[in-house]
Amino acid sequence: MFDRNEVYQLARQWVVEAGERIRSSIDNPREIETKSNPNDLVTEMDKKVEEFFASKIRSCFPGHRILSEEGFGDQVSELTGTVWIIDPIDGTMNFVHQKRTFSISLAIYHEGIGEIGLVYDVMADQLYHAQRGKGAYKNDQKLDRLPKEKSLNQSILMLNTWWCTPNHIVDDEKVRELVQTVRGTRTYGSAALEFAYLAEGIVDCYISFQLHPWDMAAGVILYHEVGGLTLQANGQPLTMVKQEPLVAGHPMIVEEIIDRYIRLK
Ligand code: IPD
Ligand code: CA
Ligand code: CA
Repeated sequence: MFDRNEVYQLARQWVVEAGERIRSSIDNPREIETKSNPNDLVTEMDKKVEEFFASKIRSCFPGHRILSEEGFGDQVSELTGTVWIIDPIDGTMNFVHQKRTFSISLAIYHEGIGEIGLVYDVMADQLYHAQRGKGAYKNDQKLDRLPKEKSLNQSILMLNTWWCTPNHIVDDEKVRELVQTVRGTRTYGSAALEFAYLAEGIVDCYISFQLHPWDMAAGVILYHEVGGLTLQANGQPLTMVKQEPLVAGHPMIVEEIIDRYIRLK
């Protein structure tokens, strides 16, 4: 049996506890390693936090599975049963260089449906949280649903620089056109927080081509609760079990972005 409220209460308690540990040791010396490339960073704290969640989950919910970034989870290729999708620190580059604007991202999916999403901005002590069907919150404040209408020329677009890396997958000219069409662009360096900002309504659309399930699982749940739309860049629904190019935003502009500006190579 899946008792959503019990799982939510514990998950929330663990996220806040992990955040407090990170915050209180933010100025400690860091052990920094690189993973897939010299800019793909991981620290001892990423690993410690993921290990903390994994041991709590395994002792309280031995039947649940874990899909996570740093190796303490399980091999998960489909979302049957209950799956915790965890990024212990989303925005590790910000964590290392800036000591702010990073988050803990934790989502719980049950039989393929996103039930609980938690994104904790650790240094700001702001917890974005949602349970499916109950709305999204920032601490105690319920977030408004998105406005009925939104046009691209009044939108702030978030995007990262993956589109201009050597193996980029979109037409540069089209991205240039899109950037010239929107009101402004932003990049914050934590995908989970970027979703939280979408849910808060302070930005309107988001393109990111290299996201893993743990970068977006919790944020997607938050964003759906306020009426946001999330799709793969080819217009298909996200599967949440593999790396996927993502377009998210107000429903009035997502399809326009995909149809007019995201020409996959
Ligand atoms: C990264 C951040 C970043 C996004 C990258 C992610 P990490 O996660 O979310 O904003 O652009 O694609 O890999 O490595 O800091 O957990
Ligand atoms: Ca991440
Ligand atoms: Ca991470």
